Amino acid sequence: MESEEKRDLITLQDITDEELMRILSLAAKLKEELRAGRPQRYLPGKIIALLFQRPSTRTRVSFEVAIRHLGGDAIFLPWQQLQLSRGETIADTARVLDRYVDAIVARVASHRTLIELAENTRVPVINALSDRFHPCQAIGDLLTIWERFGTLKGIKLAYVGDGTNVCNSLLLACTKAGMDISVACPTGYEPDPEAVKWAFDNAARTGSTVIITDDPLSAVKDAHVIYTDTFMSMHIPEAEREKRMRDFVPRYQVRPELFEAARPDAVFMHCLPAHRGEEVVAEVIDGPRSIVWDQAENRLHVQKAILMFVFKAVPWA
Ligand code: CP
Ligand code: NVA
Repeated sequence: MESEEKRDLITLQDITDEELMRILSLAAKLKEELRAGRPQRYLPGKIIALLFQRPSTRTRVSFEVAIRHLGGDAIFLPWQQLQLSRGETIADTARVLDRYVDAIVARVASHRTLIELAENTRVPVINALSDRFHPCQAIGDLLTIWERFGTLKGIKLAYVGDGTNVCNSLLLACTKAGMDISVACPTGYEPDPEAVKWAFDNAARTGSTVIITDDPLSAVKDAHVIYTDTFMSMHIPEAEREKRMRDFVPRYQVRPELFEAARPDAVFMHCLPAHRGEEVVAEVIDGPRSIVWDQAENRLHVQKAILMFVFKAVPWA
C-alpha cells in the first residue's frame, strides 16, 4: 500500500539516499525521452503554484517548462502581488493555496517560511531556494556530474567561496550520493552548522568524506569538480559588498591556477547567476573546463523528476 503521507522537498534530508538516486535515474530517462521527442504527459491536469519572493531565471523557467511538458499548468505568484505583501500571514496563505492547487514550489527569503508553508498544507511543498538551502539545484548538479564522470561514488567536489545555500545543499547531496566534498571558505563564511552536521551523519552512512577548511589549495587537491557561487547571495545586504570582496578576493576566487592542484580532467561548476571578476574569472567560466550550461539545462530534467516524485507518479514511489 502506498503511504498517504505527503512528500515535501524542503531539504535533501527529506528524502532517502535511495530516493535521491531514483530521482536522478528518472531525470536521466526523462532527458533522453525529451530528446527523442516522446510525449511526457505524466502529470495531466496538475495545477502547481510557483510562489516567488525573490528573483529567478533558471528555477522559475525550468519549473514552468517542466510542468507544461508533464501536462500540468503553472501559476506564477510573485510575493509582492499577493496579500502576503500587505501582512496576510504565510500560514493563512498556505491554507488558502492548499484549497486551490496540487503543489507549491516556493522561493523564500527565510527558510522558516517554507517550513510554515509545509506545516499548513496537505499538498507537497518544494523548496525553490531559501536563505539556507537550494535542494533542486544540488540534485541537478549531481545529474551533471554523473553524466560527466559516469559515476558519483568516489567523485570529489571542491567548493570554494561563500558557504551559501547552494554549498549547504551540495554538502547534503554529495554525502548522500557517496561523493567526497571539501569546502574552503574564509573564517566567518562557513556553511550552515546544521548542514555540516547532517553531511557528517550522511558520510558516516555512505562512506564519503567531508572536509571544511579555510585553504582553497588543499580543498581542490585531486578534485574532479571545482564549484563556486556568488559572494553576494540575494539575502546579503548590499552594505556588506565591500567587506566581502576584501575577504574573498583574490584568495577564494576561482582562477586557472586553482586547477593545477585538481585532477587533469577537472571541471568547473557554478549554479549561476555568475559574476565574472568576483567569485570566478571569465577565463574559467567561459573556458573549456566549464560545464555551467549543462548544469543549467539539467535543472529542467531534474525538476520533472522531483515533481513526479512528490506526486508519487513514478512506478517505484
Ligand atoms: N541557479 C538558480 O537557482 O538560478 P535562478 O536564481 O535564476 O533560479
Ligand atoms: N547563493 C545564491 C544562489 C542563487 C541561485 C543566492 O542565494 O543568491
